Amino acid sequence: MARSRLTKRTWPKISAVASRKLADALTKGVREVRVAGAAKLDHGCAVPFSFADADGDVTQGFIMRYTEGPVDALVAYRNWCPHIGTDLDMGTERFYSRNVNRIYCRTHGARFQVITGVCDFGPCVGLHLEAYALRVDGDDVVVTVSKDTESADASAADS
Ligand code: FES
Repeated sequence: MARSRLTKRTWPKISAVASRKLADALTKGVREVRVAGAAKLDHGCAVPFSFADADGDVTQGFIMRYTEGPVDALVAYRNWCPHIGTDLDMGTERFYSRNVNRIYCRTHGARFQVITGVCDFGPCVGLHLEAYALRVDGDDVVVTVSKDTESADASAADS
């Protein structure tokens, strides 16, 4: 019975294949959406973006900057209220209220903590917004969305 042997020559090849397979598994159903200029947003300002999933259904999200005390963060969420599943902004592209220091839903007034996305006031207390991971790339923000998408270029909406 032949036994395979790991040698210093074969291990890097095996390791590279395993790494590639692991990366493929981890990224299956994941794609990135680049939103031009989003890294330059001011506090409380947001820019919407959209992308299509594999079925052609368009999903909308938004990136927002939040600067409060020592916190200076960009967040990305799906534009979808967990209460009954409507758009948060009702097409206004405004997601944040300085008066209550929260992202809020214009339909029934649910308020969400900016950093955590958790609702702490309104009809869906305890539920949370769907967050997307993001990274800054120069002036752009690259958002990782977890939809199975094959085509459909992302388009940042005019703000
Ligand atoms: S749909 Fe958002 S609070 Fe009701």
